[in-house]
Amino acid sequence: MEEKRQCKCKHFSLPNYIVLILSLFPTLSLSQSTFNYKDALSKSLLYFEAQRSGRLPYNQRVTWRHHSGLTDGLEQGVDLVGGYYDAGDNVKFGLPMAFTITMLSWSVVEFRQQIAAAGELRHALDAIKWGTDYFIKAHTHSHVLWAQVGDGDTDHLCWQRPEDMTTSRRAHKLDEENPGTEVAAETAAAMAAAAIVFRTTNPHYSHLLLEHAQQLFEFGDKYRGKYDESIEGAKGYYTSVSGYMDELLWAALWLYKATDNPKFLNYAIHNANSFGGITWAIKEFSWDVKYAGLQIIASMLPMEGKTNEQKKTLQEYRSKAEHYICACLNKNKNNSTNVQRTPGGLLYTRQWNNMQYVSTAVFLLTVYSDHLHSTNQMLDCYTDTVGPNKILSFVKSQVAYILGSNPMGLSYLVGYGPAYPERVHHRGASMESYRDSKVFVGCTQGYDNWYGRKDPNPNVLVGALIGGPDHKDEFVDRRGNFVQTEACTYNTAPLVGTFAKLHSLENGTSSSSAYATPSLVSFI
Ligand SMILES: *[C@@H]1O[C@H](CO)[C@@H](O)[C@H](O)[C@H]1NC(C)=O
Ligand SMILES: *[C@@H]1O[C@H](CO)[C@@H](O)[C@H](O)[C@H]1NC(C)=O
Ligand SMILES: *[C@@H]1O[C@H](CO)[C@@H](O)[C@H](O)[C@H]1NC(C)=O
Repeated sequence: MEEKRQCKCKHFSLPNYIVLILSLFPTLSLSQSTFNYKDALSKSLLYFEAQRSGRLPYNQRVTWRHHSGLTDGLEQGVDLVGGYYDAGDNVKFGLPMAFTITMLSWSVVEFRQQIAAAGELRHALDAIKWGTDYFIKAHTHSHVLWAQVGDGDTDHLCWQRPEDMTTSRRAHKLDEENPGTEVAAETAAAMAAAAIVFRTTNPHYSHLLLEHAQQLFEFGDKYRGKYDESIEGAKGYYTSVSGYMDELLWAALWLYKATDNPKFLNYAIHNANSFGGITWAIKEFSWDVKYAGLQIIASMLPMEGKTNEQKKTLQEYRSKAEHYICACLNKNKNNSTNVQRTPGGLLYTRQWNNMQYVSTAVFLLTVYSDHLHSTNQMLDCYTDTVGPNKILSFVKSQVAYILGSNPMGLSYLVGYGPAYPERVHHRGASMESYRDSKVFVGCTQGYDNWYGRKDPNPNVLVGALIGGPDHKDEFVDRRGNFVQTEACTYNTAPLVGTFAKLHSLENGTSSSSAYATPSLVSFI
């Protein structure tokens, strides 16, 4: 049986599995431009179709999946059909789903042209809308948000395709008596960011998203409380360690970007100190801890038209944002505030699903590098001053590692290149497709017949970014090794923007040729 999890994708001690002895450590001489970023981009967007819950549309491209969760919410008299499964199980967890949509939307906000040039804009918009359509359904009253369907404990006792689910599909809601500020605010951020995305192509929808976003922010702010105390089933899976103050600042800044209404900026200014926005210098950015992301957004806001107090606080946000960037580049004075690396050069935060931190870092670095480039600035770290090209070369080195230039010689983006993990910890992918066999697979039958098999998964979960290697670059491709072989939607989402940017540079669509050809990989 699958090991019971304590806290998904976070701190946890590794089960004792046999560590593969690494064969010869290949010298990491990267032959330049061997990566097909366009292919990686297309595949990353395909992944979101594999994670879809609900009634699948006629143009569904991942055809080994079928309709599922069609009675979600029925018990509670609410239509919660749709949305995304977060990872390898069949629970719909509101917090990571919302963060995934915020990051997909941010990718489009920053790199829309580049995504469009690669022919992937339609798919990116569809991936976002699959989430925001669900959030609209889940936000049934101004102060009611359905924040989870199913629960990890019963779900994890079964190994079943989503199409066969027999587990509890109980839905859990947040309201005034059961507040959940993290989820309300993150969903507000996601809908505000998506409102920017749809502003020109679907103004009516954009307006609707903004209304929901503002109500959800007001709800989350006025009725403050940790969501995992209101939804018992969330604790142990997506426990909010950093609390909700980061989500409130994050949502306020997204609402400011979406509306230009100064009340949202003032919220982020006045609460900057008491909410930790300008006091926390943190070296990770995730579904739980959003400080680095919001600090980067604050530091890129234009200074024109701002009061002195606003300017001063935005500067303080900026200095924390830069601390994060310098930490990723290993250029802070105090080495213990830098992000560690594996011997092979990969950013290393912690063993359970380390790739999530790599992918968010790579996105923030890409965005900040772009910002420095377009405003003609450099970044002052303690040990060094770096320009946008140098930051981008580091991004490329991390992406190269992800896509296969690493000691294991595997692409951790499933389905990319000649070699990638074949036993991803994912219920649907690990069992015969519902398309090929509609014979019902029962709760424990899946464990008996499919989970423990040594064979590769019958369905390739194309575009999934899995948890990845440990601190020594070692990786074991085993279905039961979920610390390394499970993928999450928020791992792949930030890569969408980065892949699009790197593709556009390769294809010479960038305005500056110096910026278009950064020197490769001086960091590994
Ligand atoms: C590369 O750029 C050219 C010209 O801008 C464009 O026609 C082509 O579609 C692009 N190729 C890819 C793969 O994006
Ligand atoms: C370096 O940073 C760590 C962690 O933030 C801190 O505990 C330590 O005191 C710092 N050391 C110095 C010399 O500033
Ligand atoms: C600090 O520096 C040492 C040696 O340069 C390195 O091995 C270690 O990983 C660094 N620690 C962090 C937290 O970056």
